[in-house]
Amino acid sequence: MKEQLENIELRARQELEKIQDSAELEILRVRYLGKKGELTAILKQMATLSAEQRPVIGQLANRIRADIEEAISARMAQLKAALSEKRLKEERIDVTLPGKKREIGKLHPLNSVLNEIKEIFLGMGFDVVDGPEVEYDYYNFEALNLPPDHPARDTQDTFYVSDKILLRTQTSSVQIHVMENQKPPIRIISPGRVYRSDAVDATHSPIFHQIEGLVVDKGITMADLVGTLDLLMKRLYGDDCKIRLRPHHFPFTEPSAEVDVLCFNCGGKGCSMCKNEGYVELLGAGMVHPKVLANCGIDPDVYSGFAFGMGLERIVMRKYGINDMRLLYENDLRFLNQF
Ligand code: PHE
Repeated sequence: MKEQLENIELRARQELEKIQDSAELEILRVRYLGKKGELTAILKQMATLSAEQRPVIGQLANRIRADIEEAISARMAQLKAALSEKRLKEERIDVTLPGKKREIGKLHPLNSVLNEIKEIFLGMGFDVVDGPEVEYDYYNFEALNLPPDHPARDTQDTFYVSDKILLRTQTSSVQIHVMENQKPPIRIISPGRVYRSDAVDATHSPIFHQIEGLVVDKGITMADLVGTLDLLMKRLYGDDCKIRLRPHHFPFTEPSAEVDVLCFNCGGKGCSMCKNEGYVELLGAGMVHPKVLANCGIDPDVYSGFAFGMGLERIVMRKYGINDMRLLYENDLRFLNQF
């Protein structure tokens, strides 16, 4: 029985060496030390031993049990240490590597200047309204006093969806929508995209942005128009900014004017940027034509109004001294990060 016991101890130790994970280790423990294990089986035969042998073998069995238990927990500790060593190696983070920087975006200059303009008009009691970019011919031309064969249509050739539907050439179409849906007093601006069949160059793009303005009430005069635009330009470009009105023609305003601002490059002396004019053209404006008011069911004998339409790109270009419109659409961060 002594040899049997010593043999168990020897085998248990040899097997232990080969064990690689804790599940295998548990199986081994049960096999040797469990209730139906090898050691227990031998101890059950103790009764057959003589009185002198019993304590000797008993002692030996207890020592072997204790030794195997100790060897198992030592092996367990080794396995755990090896596992955590392995994980430490695999999951190691090099804290000295440069981090991933999160770039913080910013507004495109077209948006930041538009926001500025909206703020200025909101401060004067205007609402900001939206209008459709795909438009009926009626809103884009006809209701604005541009009948089908009007020659001024040619200057705003666009993209037709059908005979009656087109991409709007001007935000003036929104004037009609607003006047059809709202009775005076009206005070709105309407920014948005417009489309014209123009080739791309430094000052043209088939898609650009306009901001329309419309005020209709009793007793509105040209002085209100001039005062509003003068304030806008002074807020946008500084108190030194001056505006100038030149007579012009638009079918939907009468009288009509083109509005220029003092050239900031030369301050009015004349330079290459303003073609020696001292002023640069910025927008079209005028008193709403009585026919246009009547087209929308507003009595021109009771109400009058002014309207204006300005190109947002032009305003941004003048503000920052940008000389090529294409830069505003190319999304080159080296350009955009300057604003
Ligand atoms: N819609 C005109 C244009 O695109 C500008 C304008 C708007 C003129 C309102 C007068 C009144 O050129």
